[in-house]
Amino acid sequence: MDILFFSTQPYDKEYFNKANEQGAHRFRFLEYPLNEDNTALIKDERAVCVFVNDKVNAAVIRQLKEKGIRLIALRCAGFNNVDLKAAAEAGIRLVRVPAYSPHAVAEHAVALLLALNRKIYKAYNRVRDNNFTLSGLEGFDLYGKTVGVIGTGNIGAVFCRIMRGFGCRVLAHDLYSNEDLEKAGVEYSSVDSILSSSDIISLHCPLTPDTKHLVNWHTIVKMKPGVTLINTSRGGLIDTKSVVEALKTGHIGGLGIDVYEQEEQLFFQNFSGTIIQDDVLSRLTTFPNVLITAHQGFFTREALTQIAETTLQNINSFEKNEALLNEIKL
Ligand code: NAI
Repeated sequence: MDILFFSTQPYDKEYFNKANEQGAHRFRFLEYPLNEDNTALIKDERAVCVFVNDKVNAAVIRQLKEKGIRLIALRCAGFNNVDLKAAAEAGIRLVRVPAYSPHAVAEHAVALLLALNRKIYKAYNRVRDNNFTLSGLEGFDLYGKTVGVIGTGNIGAVFCRIMRGFGCRVLAHDLYSNEDLEKAGVEYSSVDSILSSSDIISLHCPLTPDTKHLVNWHTIVKMKPGVTLINTSRGGLIDTKSVVEALKTGHIGGLGIDVYEQEEQLFFQNFSGTIIQDDVLSRLTTFPNVLITAHQGFFTREALTQIAETTLQNINSFEKNEALLNEIKL
């Protein structure tokens, strides 16, 4: 099948070409994102392959239909960037990679937490500058602390287990509880009790109308003063302006994020020679207790291999008219 890739990075080409060694499909890789202006780049392809920040709204879907696209293959788990209703109306099928190494993202959340707490990013620079002092690098033991986890699906479950391994009390909230996690000592509770009891809160639920701005001024004030907040899920879960205010007062004691609400304008691109116009992000980067990575939670060899292989399996099934196990339906 001919597939047009949007928002392609060098590693996408490498892993997808490797997964397609038999040459079953023909790929055209574009660095541009999918949006209203770029559908004109589609030639004879019947499928497009997109990533987290490609815009798959109703207008784009209408254009894709006109171009003859019949399948949108997301090479990611989240699909908050897709208008499902518009796709269903256009008769375009949608597939995704629901689970690829949940360890990759869960471990990255832990990496953010550890680096933030023990100020590894500062220590690294200090030692390189021959400054071997410790003042300002003080952290806290994770052992014995209470960690609140919102969303205990594939990634949240792994994160809960890692935190249990650190000797933390883990409180969790999800629409459905997971018995195996309960057996591992995870306690399901209400969002309010997580907010008021947790020293650390980590977000692992999808971005939906229900979860948008889950962290806002009203929920922040219910959190313990000095709470550490970790978000590797989707930027829209957090009302960033409220978080900036809470960082200024010290109510939030540390923020580690791999996702940002306005990330599609910035992430996966190099703006090192440019003036960033996003004042909220720029303010965030001034705090000494904020650690930001640019959506790299998924970025391990294992995850990239699984993403490419599952995406091609999804496309194979579509081509052969088989059941689409990873279809996203309205
Ligand atoms: P999943 O679908 O396995 O788990 C999500 C869980 O959230 C489910 O158990 C669901 O019941 C729960 N949930 C849904 N609405 C909720 C609500 N209102 N309150 C509490 N829980 C709720 O998804 P998975 O694979 O664990 O991924 C979680 C999120 O991580 C994805 O939605 C995606 O946004 C993000 N992600 C980030 C990556 C990164 O590179 N930073 C890579 C992959 C995913």
